[in-house]
Amino acid sequence: MIDRIQKLIEEADSFTTNSLADLEAFRVKYLGKKGFLNGLFADFKSVPNDQKKAYGQAINTLKSTALEKVSTLKAELEANTTKTSAVGDLTRPGDPINIGGRHPISLVKNQIIDIFSRIGFNVSEGPEIEDDWHNFTALNLPEHHPARDMQDTFFIQTDPDILLRTHTSSVQVRYMENNAPPIRTISPGRVYRNEAISARSHCFFHQVEGLYIDKNVSFADLKQTLQYFTKELFGKSKIRLRPSYFPFTEPSAEVDVYWGLETETDYKMTKGTGWLEIMGCGMVDPNVLKNCGIDPKEYSGFAFGMGIDRIALLLHQINDIRLLSENDVRFLEQFKSSF
Ligand code: DAH
Repeated sequence: MIDRIQKLIEEADSFTTNSLADLEAFRVKYLGKKGFLNGLFADFKSVPNDQKKAYGQAINTLKSTALEKVSTLKAELEANTTKTSAVGDLTRPGDPINIGGRHPISLVKNQIIDIFSRIGFNVSEGPEIEDDWHNFTALNLPEHHPARDMQDTFFIQTDPDILLRTHTSSVQVRYMENNAPPIRTISPGRVYRNEAISARSHCFFHQVEGLYIDKNVSFADLKQTLQYFTKELFGKSKIRLRPSYFPFTEPSAEVDVYWGLETETDYKMTKGTGWLEIMGCGMVDPNVLKNCGIDPKEYSGFAFGMGIDRIALLLHQINDIRLLSENDVRFLEQFKSSF
C-alpha cells in the first residue's frame, strides 16, 4: 500500500503541462472529491495499527506534493499565457465593437419628441393596422366622403373595415377616447399609402401627430407652439400659415417655414420661393371632439401632423427617400449622434 502511495507521489511530482485545462484535470484526479487522496484517507481506517504512522505520513506527503504542484504550475501558466497559448494572449481586451449609429428617422423623431416634451407633451402610440373608425370616420371622414381620396389607402382584402393607417391622426382619436383633457400628446409612427415609389415618395413613411386639448385653446396658441418648434428644430422661427383643408380641423392651415434663399440648394429645395412646407394643422373640429367623447362646448384644441422622412431628408441633405428603408450600412453608418 505504501508503495502505491510512493508511486503516486512520484507521478505527482513529475507532472507537468502547458494547459490550464490539463492542470485542472490533474487537480481533480488527486485532490478532487473522488480523487486519490480522499480515497486513501477513507482507507486509513483499515490500515493495521503498526503501519498507521507511515501510511499517514505518506498520504500527507502526497497531499502537499499535489497541492504545491497545482499552485506552482498555475502561477507559471497564468504568467506565461502569451507564450504558451496558440491564439495569443487571451487576457488582452478584444477588438473594439463597432457600435452602430441611429437611423436618421429615429434621430429626427427623437429630436421632435425632445422639443415637445420640453413644453409638456407626452408620447403616445397606436396600432399600424387600424379600423375605419379611427383612421377615417371619427376624424370627420364618413364613408363616401370625397376627402378619403386624399390618401390612397391599403385595405385588408378580406375586411374593408381594416386597413393600414394612412396617417397618425388615428392616434388622436384613440388618445381622446381613453384620456380626459387636458391633453398634450405627440404620436410618432409609421404610416402607409398606396403610392408609387420614387426618390420623393414611398408607400410607407413616418409621421408625428400633435394634439393639444384644454379649456380656451386658441389658434394663437397653435401658432406660438409651431413657432417654438420650428425655431428649435431648424433654427428658423419665421413661419407662415396658409389656409387649407383637412376634414378633422376647422379652420385648417398648412405651415411653411422660411428657409432662406442663400445657397443654390435653398433655391432648389424651396423652388425659388424661400419657403418650405412642413406640416398640416388646425383647430380640432368640434365633430371630432364629440366623436371621441369630449364636449366641444367645454374644450377646444389644436392638432398638427408632419412627415418625419421629409424633415430627415432636409436636415441631413439626403436626396432619395428610398435610402431610408434600404438598410445599406454604408449609408446608415454616417449618422452617429447622441440622440
Ligand atoms: N393627417 C394629415 C396628413 O396625413 C396631416 C394633418 C393635418 C394632421 C392637419 C393634423 C392636422 O392633425 O390638424 O396629411
